Amino acid sequence: MRYIYLIILGLFFSVINMEANNSASISLVPCPTNVVPGTGSFQFTPKTVFAVETEEQAAIVRLLSDQFTCAAGFTPKLKVDSKKGNLVLQTDKTIKSEAYCLEITPKKITVRAADAKGFFYALQSIRQLLPPAIESAVKVDGTEWIVPAMTITDEPRFGYRGLMVDVARFFVPKENLLRIIDCMGMLKLNTLHLHLVDDNGWRIEIKKYPLLTEIGASRVERPGKLFPERRNQRQGEPTVEKGFYTQDDIREIVAYAAARRIEVIPEIEMPAHTNSSLAAYPELACPVVDRFVGVLPGIGGKNSEIVYCAGNDSVFSFLEDVIDEVSELFPSKYIHLGGDEASKVNWAKCPKCRARMEAEHIEHTEELQSYFMTRMSNYVRSKGKEVMGWDELTNSTLPEGAIIYGWQGFGKAALKAAAQGHRFIMTPARSLYFIRYQGPQWFEPLTYFGNNTLKDVYTYEPVQEEWNPVYEDLLMGVQASMWTEFCNSPDDVEYQLFPRLLALSDIAWAKKGTK
Ligand code: ACM
Ligand code: ZN
Repeated sequence: MRYIYLIILGLFFSVINMEANNSASISLVPCPTNVVPGTGSFQFTPKTVFAVETEEQAAIVRLLSDQFTCAAGFTPKLKVDSKKGNLVLQTDKTIKSEAYCLEITPKKITVRAADAKGFFYALQSIRQLLPPAIESAVKVDGTEWIVPAMTITDEPRFGYRGLMVDVARFFVPKENLLRIIDCMGMLKLNTLHLHLVDDNGWRIEIKKYPLLTEIGASRVERPGKLFPERRNQRQGEPTVEKGFYTQDDIREIVAYAAARRIEVIPEIEMPAHTNSSLAAYPELACPVVDRFVGVLPGIGGKNSEIVYCAGNDSVFSFLEDVIDEVSELFPSKYIHLGGDEASKVNWAKCPKCRARMEAEHIEHTEELQSYFMTRMSNYVRSKGKEVMGWDELTNSTLPEGAIIYGWQGFGKAALKAAAQGHRFIMTPARSLYFIRYQGPQWFEPLTYFGNNTLKDVYTYEPVQEEWNPVYEDLLMGVQASMWTEFCNSPDDVEYQLFPRLLALSDIAWAKKGTK
């Protein structure tokens, strides 16, 4: 009997507790650094005036006022170079970059930040505090457009808060990618890493090499077959175009992302995962390759061992030309050169690769990859950009300054780079690969590699106790990686992304221990 009383008492207190939390709790993802609830609420009406100091701020505010136009059926007025309004933006250089202070009272909303990023994030908080109907593309009647009074001071934990989207395996149409970018902005993520190239498709127009998309963006259809079951293309078998971004598309994507304070990092894979470009230009493979090279519809078996020849100078001039166009298209200071899972079987047999090793005094084919990556890295650096790569780059001498993405062994592979003073980003397959199942495997659509549940993502903590303290300074941040081998529609990609992307945003932004 006593136990029953205890249980009832326990339930009673937990209800009280929930209520207390509910009134105080503010639904914001990622969790802000500090929130002090106020009294009452601010209501947006057709009379509301947004006052901003600059055109740059006006562009940020317009993203929110456009939402009012669609969902509320009215557009708040916007005054540029003005301090008088109901929602006022004020530059405050004492605040850190990306951070903001948001004060909401029933009369006025004041936003303070040092830069556009801070203002953008403050407005995303307002966006989340509004009724969900603010996301509607059509007018919603009967909604009070209110946000509760409060004061938020907020700043991110990590400077790099990323999502990688593999648009090579499944080509994500531009409109769907823009939607993902908008969601990223709402969640205060600031980096989109585009995996543009793989064995299964080349997805970016390169003017100098039209066959990259004429051939490399198409592949054979294997209806009803899942990725691992799809047989390779036979010579002469017809292919179907699966899509690519034109250079105008890329400019539009980059601009759309920039408006949401998101940097787009292009990844041009090398020396492996390159069957799509080798299908277009087979002379770039080692001359010992005697089989037909097509764009792979699936895993590819032995064909996935076919990589660029490291002994052929034309390979480097080809890649330099590609990098020239890519660097023009993406203003990001980074270019990701891939470098993962490169088979060396053909290099070991290839007379050109062997001649290169001899000339460069290289003993092992693993070091030949270092030669390859370093040569391309030097080219990228000569263009004023920094190089990024997967953690396989730590298997041989690292290119100078290369930033490493840790994906293997809970991301530990990247610590080999950190031990040599290199910056790194954590995207461990075991926690942050969104290709994995997010629920029971008997229930979820078929995919690869075990589970990464919402809780697995949410409880991931990149900084480990046993780390040398300098590693924490070299850690730029975290990234979820959305590999799309099992996606066959844009909906499949969204299904895998959500709700886990919210958990990612919290681990990327919220202070340790405050999620
Ligand atoms: C990778 O998952 N191969 C980077
Ligand atoms: Zn070769």
